[in-house]
Amino acid sequence: MQSKDELLKLLYFYPNNYIKSQDLARRLGLPKTEIYKIIKELRMEGFDIYGCTNRGYALKPIDDIVSPENLSKYSNITPEMFRVFSSLPSTNSTAKEMAVCGAPDGTVCIAESQTKGRGRFDRQFFSPKQTGIYMSVILRPTFSTAEIIQLTPLAAVAVAEAAEKITNEPTQIKWVNDVYFKDKKICGILTEAAINPDTKKFDYVILGIGVNLYTPQDNFPDNIQNIAGSLLSKPLPDARCKMIGEILKHFYHYYYNFEKKAFLEAYRSRSILDGKNVEVFRGDASYRASVLGINDDFSLKIRLSDGSTENLSSGEVSLKI
Ligand code: BTN
Repeated sequence: MQSKDELLKLLYFYPNNYIKSQDLARRLGLPKTEIYKIIKELRMEGFDIYGCTNRGYALKPIDDIVSPENLSKYSNITPEMFRVFSSLPSTNSTAKEMAVCGAPDGTVCIAESQTKGRGRFDRQFFSPKQTGIYMSVILRPTFSTAEIIQLTPLAAVAVAEAAEKITNEPTQIKWVNDVYFKDKKICGILTEAAINPDTKKFDYVILGIGVNLYTPQDNFPDNIQNIAGSLLSKPLPDARCKMIGEILKHFYHYYYNFEKKAFLEAYRSRSILDGKNVEVFRGDASYRASVLGINDDFSLKIRLSDGSTENLSSGEVSLKI
């Protein structure tokens, strides 16, 4: 099964380019006869693989065109709301500029790759082309600060549910903004907001979501290789549009019913930190604690070694399990 996925991925990363069967055999450490067998199986599953004597095998490109029309088809949101770019420094930065220039509530900024993808605590977010989703939604909610803070966990639930819909497998959430699949981080969320100095109300909120759909051809960079994972082990037609559509559908379901707080239970049921021992990093200090659970306001309840309890709010700490 794993070899089949690996072979498919090799062909997927070079659509329309022939790869010799001996090269496939060498890359996968299998005899050529096994390669023929797997190709046959993949064709039976519907993958359009051409074979050519002396040239090898090539896969017909799998449709996954991230266009406003295609995105609209999978999300029920009108095409005008999507702005799709081939490459941007950061979709959050561009979405901010668009918001300042008056882009309407619900505008979604998407890039096929990012050169300066940003995460929390000023970390980089690895954003290569072809393998991930990099999107930022411009929101103009009339929410209080306490409610705005809950948009990040709400979005984490939306991504988790979308991933489950696509894969039929469970996902988990690591407080506060990371979605995990098979014990690896597949999504990070960065929410940024601006307050209007005159009205003291939120002018806009940018909800930035990055999802690793596939493992890049050259794997993830060394510094994140142990943490990062991907959602799909083999290419799926329209994967990016389907996933973006599902994320938006699940997001708006909870967003428009915000006061019901249904996303709280959905979040708690996927929380991976409950009962775990963690290391809390706050400023220059760090200390050990055990996690008791998620409070109603999405702060994390922890017990310290002296038996006292604390509630951590998302902005101020990072954790290591
Ligand atoms: C994290 O893991 O700390 C959050 C990562 C958030 C990454 C997304 S990708 C789309 C948007 N644009 C950015 O520059 N960052 C967010």
